[in-house]
Amino acid sequence: MRIYIIMKAIVPLILVALVLPKTSIYAHGEKRPMKKGILLVAFGSTIPEAQVSFDNIDRSVKKAFPGVEIYWAYTSRTIIAKMAKEGKNLATPAETLARMMREKFTHVAVQSLHVIPGAEFHGLTQNVRRYEGMSKGIEQVLVGRPLLATSEDLQRVAEAMLKIIPPERLKSEAVVFMGHGTHHPANVYYAALNYHVQKLDPNIFVGTVEGWPEIGDIKEDLKQGGLKKAYLIPLMSVAGDHARNDMVGEEENSWKSVLEKEGIKCEPVLKGLAEHQEFVDIWVDHLRTAFGHFD
Ligand code: CO
Repeated sequence: MRIYIIMKAIVPLILVALVLPKTSIYAHGEKRPMKKGILLVAFGSTIPEAQVSFDNIDRSVKKAFPGVEIYWAYTSRTIIAKMAKEGKNLATPAETLARMMREKFTHVAVQSLHVIPGAEFHGLTQNVRRYEGMSKGIEQVLVGRPLLATSEDLQRVAEAMLKIIPPERLKSEAVVFMGHGTHHPANVYYAALNYHVQKLDPNIFVGTVEGWPEIGDIKEDLKQGGLKKAYLIPLMSVAGDHARNDMVGEEENSWKSVLEKEGIKCEPVLKGLAEHQEFVDIWVDHLRTAFGHFD
């Protein structure tokens, strides 16, 4: 009986839903032309030198998608707040999509410029999907994967890591890449990448600032391997605050200080991944995949 009452209430609603137009986009006979756009999303950086990385990505995306408008947004609230104090207004992905909606974009490919599919990436995906299918809004929002997503990406990144090592480094010397690291389960990507890269060169190591493996683990590995010198390279899109302070800063807990205390000579390389075309190409390819999947 109860079910019958519920059905009686629901069936007319279903019928109404069926006869309504699929979207209200075409209301008032307003047929909108397809307008595709790109939204590039980075974590952000407070360091002015980071702009080199962002400019390199921007240039590469423009070259790969001639004639497509490109927008930028940032996911770090801390960085947005800090930059606002300096009078620089960085937009969030939601703000930028609202603007793109007003500018009549119908399809937007959002490219995550993050390294792993961690908290930043999942938060981004969750937020931008809310901009899909609004009345008079954007019809479709697709998100491109970050640098590391599939096993193929891990292998490609491992190979790219080899290419950015300074040519003067000897095979008997270590190379330590500093990833960000996270409490998110996606932290496992760093250990997976370590596996891939060590298959190519056993003296290359991947550690993290805020996850696992930590510098303490790396230090033990270097000692065990009898390695006396290490090149330190950030595994982050920009050589920002972490690279300059946590990696090679003068404080006693910086990676450089920790390793040098053990008699391991350190050679810092202060360049972000996005300054190298090998890495930018991976992000661009992920964007190409997203862009090619519009309905
Ligand atoms: Co951080």
